[in-house]
Amino acid sequence: MSKIFVDACLGKETPYTPVWMMRQAGRYLPEYMAVRAKAGNFLNLCHNPKMAAEVTIQPLDIVGVDAAILFSDILVIPDEMGMDLEFIKGFGPKFNDPLISQEDLDRLIGGEEAASKLTYVYETIELLREQLDARGDNKALIGFTGAPWTLATYMIEGQGTKTYNICKKMMYSNPELLHNILAKVTEVVKLYMEKQIEAGIDVVQIFDSWAAAIEPSKYDEFSWKYMVEIADYLKSKHPHVPIIMFPKGVPAFLDKVYGNFDVFGVDWSTPMALAKEKLGERYVLQGNMEPCRLYSKEATTECVASLANTMKEGRHIFNLGHGILPDVPVENAKHFVAECQRLSRRD
Ligand code: CP3
Repeated sequence: MSKIFVDACLGKETPYTPVWMMRQAGRYLPEYMAVRAKAGNFLNLCHNPKMAAEVTIQPLDIVGVDAAILFSDILVIPDEMGMDLEFIKGFGPKFNDPLISQEDLDRLIGGEEAASKLTYVYETIELLREQLDARGDNKALIGFTGAPWTLATYMIEGQGTKTYNICKKMMYSNPELLHNILAKVTEVVKLYMEKQIEAGIDVVQIFDSWAAAIEPSKYDEFSWKYMVEIADYLKSKHPHVPIIMFPKGVPAFLDKVYGNFDVFGVDWSTPMALAKEKLGERYVLQGNMEPCRLYSKEATTECVASLANTMKEGRHIFNLGHGILPDVPVENAKHFVAECQRLSRRD
């Protein structure tokens, strides 16, 4: 039997529009907090395939989404390239030696050697493939990566940033070094995603969470073209595996979107009707409820009904327009999922 989520990614007709939520395996679920406590911390959890598989499955059973997303983090890539990732409580991710020079970049592990170090991710996927197949409910498994640009922002700044001043200084004063960083990350990501597919994921999502930091006229040069290069590589190896691109906050780029991928993830700041007008003929659209609507069941239903109406003759996957926040009541997440499935039913 085919999987409703995969069918929807490929633009096939489905009995209802499938739904999942970015960051659906996480801190709003008490069951996740219990497994994380057992693991000791977040990175230990990412490194433990049995526990990572367990939290990946949780939202399927607890909130009823149509697809699971691999539990991991985008920053395991620079970690295995040799950057030594830490997650500091109340602060977030931290790299103590950010990239400043070409020599710093040359010291990092690249290509196949770096991709081969992410064995715990491939083992998690293999476990999940067995577990999902055994359930027999045909829920899909999404694998993911950060876009080279989004990964580079952490590698250059050493942490999250509001201004991106260090990487933008590099963009305008030493673009060659930034391109060298992006190219090296792109090579690792291609092989990493190929290995995720070979381990058993059904769909790929590329998160460009910090796309909006780049001015529109530079977005293709410093981010999109690398994402397209990754998509082209994966399509040449595994043409039937759907690819979702999620560049967050780039409404001015909608007219310029190109590439061989299947689904365009619409963030919450872009009206779905506008995305449909610009891209709906060429791509399936995913999204895009403003995640804070999850604090109110009424605001949630209102948005889901409006999205279902806008997309009733279009190809669509429900999602949030960015990740779910940790203090959202589980009840409300369940309500969102049920409303998506109810209000889009076609039979
Ligand atoms: O979506 C899922 O449920 C799968 C797991 C997943 C995580 N991170 C787990 C996580 C995914 C897909 C990510 C991607 C990710 N990680 C992105 C891109 C997606 C997005 O939201 O834009 C980014 C930018 C990161 C980097 C990252 N990881 C940050 C900035 C932080 C700290 C801030 C925060 O949200 O706490 C993380 C930590 C992280 N990644 C957590 C989880 C569940 C919280 C860790 C914890 O349990 O304390």
